[in-house]
Amino acid sequence: MMDMNVGIVGGGAMGQFLYTQLQQKHLFCLTLYTRTKEQANQVSQQGIYLYNGNQRKHYSAIAESIDKIKQTDVLIVTLKQYALKKILPILYCQEFQNTTLVFLQNGMGHLEEIEKLPQSKIYVGTVSHGVTKVHTNEIIHKGIGPILFGRFRGIDNNFENHMLTFNQEKFPLQFLSDFQKVLLDKLYINAVINPLTALLNVKNGALIQNENFREMAHSIFEELDLVFSFQEKKEEVWHSIVQVIQATAHNESSMLQDLKNNKLTEIDGIYGYIMREANKKKKDIRYIPFLYNAISGLERRNLQ
Ligand code: PAF
Repeated sequence: MMDMNVGIVGGGAMGQFLYTQLQQKHLFCLTLYTRTKEQANQVSQQGIYLYNGNQRKHYSAIAESIDKIKQTDVLIVTLKQYALKKILPILYCQEFQNTTLVFLQNGMGHLEEIEKLPQSKIYVGTVSHGVTKVHTNEIIHKGIGPILFGRFRGIDNNFENHMLTFNQEKFPLQFLSDFQKVLLDKLYINAVINPLTALLNVKNGALIQNENFREMAHSIFEELDLVFSFQEKKEEVWHSIVQVIQATAHNESSMLQDLKNNKLTEIDGIYGYIMREANKKKKDIRYIPFLYNAISGLERRNLQ
């Protein structure tokens, strides 16, 4: 029986992937909210195609454009951090007062905005599946990774219990109280992998296979340590980053893909936040601002 209305905001790879997975147990009545009316029409008429290896699965779907968003039990926001401005003002409307909000963005820059929201149940989280959108309603699933939900404000037991029924080997997920840790762990990974691979135009694996690139990656990591003081956890943090590089060695990072597709990148959400933290803590960092300018410059050139 479908007893919860859930809206997934964002018709990108992540939004569509979550839709296909959460549809499977018929526990949720789902709607995918996309930026354009055209995409909503196409998804509603044709459904979503999910490729995995040489398998292709079809999922029927209900989609609407974001401006048609309506009262719902849970809203899972998968928009990139820079696109949150499309949804945040809507969330102040009375009809969303009791909605549980879930924000799945890379970086930490959005927390200040989320803090101001009136809702009493809010989660922030990270998704580490390798998923790429190849067409309006077609996505490729290239790698399994955990989905971590951090409890930012309040707890929605009904939502957590429903979600935990999906927790399995191919779709691991967890709810954690330390939301800062959830986001920071992913921030360190994205900070080391994404801008460097995007600038060098290499797959993730090159950051450990090529000695020079490895040294560059390690220099970024040293600056992260300067800002976030890993102390006795230092080795462990580096090891977790290397593990992700190994697990995604054949993938192109999302930032490299964004640059190649002439799209905005998440550089502000990732490095913008780290640079503000460095500034607050009076830490002198060089590589991160240098890379920030490199990626922002490429992004600007591509978007002109
Ligand atoms: O943004 C990405 O590309 C991914 O989060 C990760 C884990 C760095 C793998 O490419």
